[in-house]
Amino acid sequence: MGAKVSQLLVIICLMISMISAQNADIATLQALKNAWQNTPPNWDNDQDPCSGSWDGITCTNDRVTIIKLSSMGLNGMLPENIGQLTELQILDLSYNKGLSGPLTSAIGDLKKLTTLILVGCGFSGPIPDTIGNLESLVFLSLNSNGFTGQIPASVGNLTNLYWLDLSANKLIGTIPVSNLIMPVGLDKLTRAKHFHLGDNQLSGGIPPKLFNSSMKLIHLLLENNRLTGTIPSTLGLVTSLQVVRLDRNLLRGNVPSNINSLINVTEMFLSNNQLTGPIPDLTGMNVLNYIDLSNNSFDQSNVPSWLSTIKALTTIKMQKTNLDGEVPAALFSIPQLQNVDLSNNLINGTLNISSNPSSELELVDLRSNLIADFTQRSSYRINVTLVGNPICMESGVTDKFCTVPIESPSSYSTPRNECVPLSCGLNLVSSPNCHCALPYTGLFFFKAPSFSSIGNFSIYNSLRDSLMAFFQRTNLPVDSVSLKNPRRDVDDYLVIELDVFPSGGNPEFNRTGVLEIGFALSNQTFKPGKEFNTFVFIHENYADFFPEISATALTRGTKHKSSNAGIIVGSAIGGCVLVLLLVLAGIYAFRQKERAETTPQQSQPFVAALGDPTSDSDIVPQLKGARSFTFKELQNYTNNFSEMNNIGKGGYGMVYKGSLPNGQLIAVKRAQKGSSQGGLEFKTEIELLSRVHHKNVVGLIGFCLDQGEQMLVYEYIVNGTLKDSLLGRSGIRLDWMRRLKIALGAARGLQYLHNHADPPVIHRDVKTNNILLDQRLVAKVADFGLSKPLSDADTTHVTTQVKGTMGYMDPEYYMTQQLTEKSDTYSFGVVMLELITARNPIMKGRYIVREVKEAMNKNEELYGLHDILDPIIGLSNQLKGLERFVDLALRCVEDTGNQRPTMSEIVKELESIMELVGLDPNTDSASSTCASYEEVSKDYPSSNDSLFSRNEGSLPME
Ligand SMILES: *[C@@H]1O[C@H](CO)[C@@H](O)[C@H](O)[C@H]1NC(C)=O
Ligand SMILES: *[C@@H]1O[C@H](CO)[C@@H](O)[C@H](O)[C@H]1NC(C)=O
Ligand SMILES: *[C@@H]1O[C@H](CO)[C@@H](O)[C@H](O)[C@H]1NC(C)=O
Ligand SMILES: *[C@@H]1O[C@H](CO)[C@@H](O)[C@H](O)[C@H]1NC(C)=O
Repeated sequence: MGAKVSQLLVIICLMISMISAQNADIATLQALKNAWQNTPPNWDNDQDPCSGSWDGITCTNDRVTIIKLSSMGLNGMLPENIGQLTELQILDLSYNKGLSGPLTSAIGDLKKLTTLILVGCGFSGPIPDTIGNLESLVFLSLNSNGFTGQIPASVGNLTNLYWLDLSANKLIGTIPVSNLIMPVGLDKLTRAKHFHLGDNQLSGGIPPKLFNSSMKLIHLLLENNRLTGTIPSTLGLVTSLQVVRLDRNLLRGNVPSNINSLINVTEMFLSNNQLTGPIPDLTGMNVLNYIDLSNNSFDQSNVPSWLSTIKALTTIKMQKTNLDGEVPAALFSIPQLQNVDLSNNLINGTLNISSNPSSELELVDLRSNLIADFTQRSSYRINVTLVGNPICMESGVTDKFCTVPIESPSSYSTPRNECVPLSCGLNLVSSPNCHCALPYTGLFFFKAPSFSSIGNFSIYNSLRDSLMAFFQRTNLPVDSVSLKNPRRDVDDYLVIELDVFPSGGNPEFNRTGVLEIGFALSNQTFKPGKEFNTFVFIHENYADFFPEISATALTRGTKHKSSNAGIIVGSAIGGCVLVLLLVLAGIYAFRQKERAETTPQQSQPFVAALGDPTSDSDIVPQLKGARSFTFKELQNYTNNFSEMNNIGKGGYGMVYKGSLPNGQLIAVKRAQKGSSQGGLEFKTEIELLSRVHHKNVVGLIGFCLDQGEQMLVYEYIVNGTLKDSLLGRSGIRLDWMRRLKIALGAARGLQYLHNHADPPVIHRDVKTNNILLDQRLVAKVADFGLSKPLSDADTTHVTTQVKGTMGYMDPEYYMTQQLTEKSDTYSFGVVMLELITARNPIMKGRYIVREVKEAMNKNEELYGLHDILDPIIGLSNQLKGLERFVDLALRCVEDTGNQRPTMSEIVKELESIMELVGLDPNTDSASSTCASYEEVSKDYPSSNDSLFSRNEGSLPME
C-alpha cells in the first residue's frame, strides 16, 4: 500500500514537473516575444505555441526543441530566459541584424543544443565561457557579428563539433590550445572539419599543438588576422585538409618543407605574410587548383619548375615573390590554367607562351618585371599584361599588352527561362519565370573557389541549377532563383548575389518560407559543390517584414539599404550596363531621399557621427550624407593598412586602397596622427565633399573619426592621376582626343565647384596630380584639402594664407594673397599646357608657361610647337583644334585675374573645340579607341547630374 502511494506520488510529481516545464517553455517564449520587436505576427495569438501556431517554433512532447527565426528582422537582446529551454536542439537566429547586445551566458544551459547559428546578427561583447558546456553541439556559427575578446578555451570542450565558424568578428588574443592549466583547446576538436576563424584580430603564433594527425579538418581558414611566428610543421600532419588559408597575417620564417604532405589540398593561400626562405616546393600536391603565395619575402629564385607538374592548377598567384629568370613556356600548357599573376618580380628575358597554351587561359599578368621581348608578340590571343617591363618602355609602344586591361566587373546574371519579363510594381521584381515577386536576397561569399575566372558563366548556371534542385528536394516554396554580378572582393572571396523567388504565384514569401530558406543557407544544408567549396551566405532584410518599410511601398533598391547600393555600385563599374544602372541609381537616389523623409530612423547608417562620444567634438563636421566608419571597419577593408594597399601619399597622409564588404573599391586617406593643421583640413574636406556631387568630382563615401584617427573614404578611381598617365606610368596612351575630353571633364568639375556647389568652392590646388581618371578615363577633380568655401558675404575674394603647389600657383594670388576663382583658372591653364607637353610645370628651372610662349610662332602650323609637344599625343595632322587649345591655355595664365576666362567660359570653348574635332562633347567616355564602352556612352546623358545630387555617398558614377 505504502509502496503504491509513493509510486503514485512519484508519478504525480513527475507530471507536475513536466507540466511546469511545459509552462516554463511557454513563459520563456513569451519572454522572447517581449524582448524582441518584429516577431512574427502570429506570435500575438493566444494559442499554445507548441500547437504549431507560432512561426519558427517546433515542439516535441510539448517541449520546445527547435527555434528557427532566420531573416525575420528581429530587434532586441537575447534574454537569459533562453537558458530555460533545456530541450532545445536547434537555435537559428541568423541574419537578424537587429539582435544585439551580449550573448547571455545562460546559453550554456542548453545542454541538448546541437546547432547554434547566430551568423549575421549584431551581437557584441565576449563569447561566454559557458559555450563550452554545450556538449551536444555539432554546428556553431557565430560569424559576422561584433564579438570581442578572446576565443574561449572552453570551445575545445565541444568534442562533437563538426563546424566552427567565428570569422568576421573582432576577436583578439591567441588561438587557444590545451595545456597543463587549461586542459581544453581547439586541438581537442578532433571531429571538426571546419575551423573558420578568419577576419578577426587574432594574434600570437599558430600553436604547433593546434594540429595533430587524429584530426579530420578539411577547411582551415585563418586569413586576415594578426598571427605571427612561423607556420608550424605539425600542419603537415593534418592530411585531410583541402583548403588552407593563412593569408594576410604576419607570419614569418620558412614554410615547413612537409607542407607538400597535404596532398588533398585544392586551395592554398599563404599570400601577404612575411614568409622567407625558399619558395615552398609543392611537388606531389596533385589536386591543387589555386595557389597564392604573393607578397612574401622569399629568397630570389627562378619561377619554380614543379609548377608545371601540377596538372590541376587553375590559378597561380606569385606576385612580388622575388622570382627571376624566364617563365618556362611549359607553365602555360597546364591544361586548366586560367590565371597567372607573376607581376612585380624580376622575371627577365623573353616571354614565350607555349605554342599550345591552356584553352582556359584568361589573364597572364607580368606587370613590372624585366621582360625585354615576347615571342608571340604579334600573334597571341590571350590577355597578357607587360606594362612596366622594358618591352613596353620603348618609346611609342602601343601594343595592347602594354596597356593595363580595363577590369570590368561582370554584370552577368543567370538567364531567365523562356518568357517575357514583366515590368513589375516598384517593390517587385520579375522572376526568371517572369512572375512579379519580392525575392529573398543576399550574398554568397565563396572563400576558396577552385577557379579564378569570373567570366565562366556556365559555372554559375550549374550553381543555380543545384540550388534550385536543392530547394525542390527539400520542399521549400521556391519558384526560381537567380544569381548575378559575380566578383572578387579584397579578401579574394568570390561574391555572388542571390535572388530567391516564391512559388505558387505568390508575390512574396511568408515567414515560414523565409526562415526555412534562411536556415538552409545558414546551416550549410545546401552544398554548392566542389568548385565552390565553402561559403558564407549573408541575407539582406526582407522588406515585407518591416511594417514601416513595406507600408510606404518602397523599391527593391531602398530595401537593400547601403549594402545593396554598393552592389549596384560594384556592378556598375565600367561595362555595358551603365545606362541601366544610372537609371537604377537615379531611382535609388530618389527613393533614398523619399525614405529619408518618411522613415528617418532607417537612414541611420548614413547619418554622420554627430553625437558620437568617441569623436572629437571640435572637428565633428556638419555633414549632408557621408557615412561614418569605425577604425576597425577601415582596418578590415584595407587589409590592416598594409603596405600592399598603400597607393600613395596625399596632402596630409597616406592613401590606401580597400574594398567595402559589398565589393565597392575605396581609397582611404589616413591623416598622420597629431597633425593639427591636418585636423582643420580634414574638417574642411569632409564638409565640402559631402556637399559636392558631380561626375567630374571625386565622390566622398564617408569618413572615420574614431580612436584618434582621421580618415576620408573616397570612391576608388582605378586609373590613378592624370600626371601618372602623362608620364607614361599607367600604361594608358593618351591621344589628343582623350586629352581634350579629360580637359573638358576637369573643367566641368571646377566649373561645378565654382558655380554650383553650395557653398561655392575654390579648389586652390589644381594640378595634374589632383585630376584622377576612372576606368572610362573620365576626369575627376580630387583633393579638397586646401579648398576654401566662398562665404556669401564675400564671394569675390578671400584673404588667406597662401597655399598651393609651385608651378601651378597664380602669381597674383601669391603676391596679394587675394584668392579668387581666377586662381583656379590660372592653375588650370598650366594643366592645359602640361596636357599637350607632358612636361612638369617647372623642369630644370624652366617654367612651362614661358617655354610655350617662347617656342610659339602663330604663323606656323601648330604654332610651331612640334618640338615641345608630347610625342605620344599623335601625329601633327591629327591635332585639329590644338591652336585654339593653346590660345585658351595662354588666356588662363594671363597675369591678372580679370583678363582670365571663368571656368564656364573655358568649358564653352573646350566644347566648341571638341565639336571642331568632330567629337560630341556630351559623350562621356574619354576613350576614342576602346570600342567596348563607346556604345554605352552615347546614350549616357551627361547633363543630368542633378538627378543624383545628394544621394548618400554611394553613387554608381561610373
Ligand atoms: C567542459 O564540459 C564539462 C561538461 O559540460 C564541464 O563540466 C566543464 O566545466 C567544461 N570545461 C570547460 C573548461 O568549460
Ligand atoms: C584524400 O582524398 C582521397 C580522395 O578523395 C580520399 O580517398 C583520401 O582518404 C583523402 N586523404 C586523407 C588523408 O583524407
Ligand atoms: C635573367 O636573370 C638571371 C638571374 O638574375 C640572370 O642570370 C640572367 O643572365 C638574366 N638573363 C637576361 C637575358 O638578362
Ligand atoms: C581578356 O580579358 C577581358 C577582360 O577581363 C575578358 O573579357 C576577355 O574574355 C579576355 N580574353 C580572353 C581571350 O580570355
